[in-house]
Amino acid sequence: MKSHQNMLRMMSLKHFLVISLALNVGLISKILFLGDKRVEEIYCLDNKGALGLEVSEEEAHVEKKDSSLKSSSYSFLPTTISAEDDGSIINLDHGDPTMYERYWQQMGDKTTVVISGWQLISYFSDIRKICWFLESEFANAVIRLHKQVGNALTEGRHIVVGTGSTQLFQAVLYALCPDNASEPMNVVSAAPFYSSYPLMTDYLKSGLYKWAGDAYKFRKDKPYIELVTSPNNPDGSSRKAVVNRNQGMLVHDLAYYWPQYTPISIPADHDIMLFTVSKSTGHAGTRLGWALVKDQEIAKRMTKFIELNTIGVSKDSQIRAAKILHHVADSIDHGPEYQETDNFFEFGYSLMAKRWTQLRAAVNRSNIFSLPSFPSGTCSFSGHTFESQPAFAWLKCEGEIEDCESFLRSHKILTRGGKHFGVGAEYVRISMMDRDGIFDRFAERLSTINSQVS
Ligand SMILES: Cc1ncc(COP(=O)(O)O)c(C=O)c1O
Repeated sequence: MKSHQNMLRMMSLKHFLVISLALNVGLISKILFLGDKRVEEIYCLDNKGALGLEVSEEEAHVEKKDSSLKSSSYSFLPTTISAEDDGSIINLDHGDPTMYERYWQQMGDKTTVVISGWQLISYFSDIRKICWFLESEFANAVIRLHKQVGNALTEGRHIVVGTGSTQLFQAVLYALCPDNASEPMNVVSAAPFYSSYPLMTDYLKSGLYKWAGDAYKFRKDKPYIELVTSPNNPDGSSRKAVVNRNQGMLVHDLAYYWPQYTPISIPADHDIMLFTVSKSTGHAGTRLGWALVKDQEIAKRMTKFIELNTIGVSKDSQIRAAKILHHVADSIDHGPEYQETDNFFEFGYSLMAKRWTQLRAAVNRSNIFSLPSFPSGTCSFSGHTFESQPAFAWLKCEGEIEDCESFLRSHKILTRGGKHFGVGAEYVRISMMDRDGIFDRFAERLSTINSQVS
């Protein structure tokens, strides 16, 4: 009798799974059929991809939170919906650089890469090199572009390639920590810091290093690693190290030190510098970053980490990234096949300038928000004189609004609250890198929000 009941239970479970699978397939095809906009909305609602998988990128490092539109402090607040705004959810929590998609579409087949089945099948690229999985074509493209833009010195440096600068970040922590220390190394960064740093540092509960918080508050007389992000994620400021003690080691994360975001002043000349294609050219999905490292032993240890972690870095990605970076360099040079409007950094610069103008206008109209201001500088690369136009807006809710993330959520705008970055809830970070339509709707909606609090 019992086994009969169990069987029935199992059968109904099976049925349920089959039905649920059918429903999901139906839903997926519906989503795909409805195109881009709908996919975006579904994704916004449950923070999952169309197949129900957790979407994992930089921002997936943030602790899971309920991204439904329930809000603790605010119910839905009335927003004047304009003709351009259909009232749907706008998700600017993630730093997904899809604003560059339009440019790369316009370039058509110029950056198409074809790789035959027999190519790039070995683990190895050049076993004589410290970074033995670094493709020389990618290294050449990196050096060429830095020389052209003038944003970092490459002479006398080792290039270490990584699966995104996320892997290089972990490789660098491993490389800088002695394996026989009596306690884990302190890792600090000045608040507001990139929200993934604490999570990436502590998720494996390493015995080598541990997150020690805001660099401004670090008082221990102990060795430490300070992460210096310049321009900074989330607030766009140009930064220098803040602890400045002799037991410190510095890692410069220069993901945003490119001329579409900030005037290039001098070529960066630090011991360890991290870059990524995610924010320079917008190819976050290629998962490729590079480190410029002065010290040979550190470069060796970083390489060792990547060897232990993933036995190298995708060659397919390196070849694709090399093509992309060479294209960017060619577009600046105006080779015979290129027009002035093909200049990649001009595209990025103009688009960011337009968006910051839109955003500042919206903020001025609403009078409950404020934004940081930036000093003006002349870019040694482009010759433009401008104020930084960062990849993220660091918005502050003024007055009685204590929780800016919840407040904006009640207006169906998803952002990331200040607490993730080590500061107060009156701040939020907003991605400026989404597709045109989404950004325009956001700016439009923000300008209509007034300070009604339920
Ligand atoms: C400051 C900073 N460093 C590193 C990363 C990660 O880059 P990647 O996509 O190359 O892992 C990001 C991504 O948002 C970032 O903002």
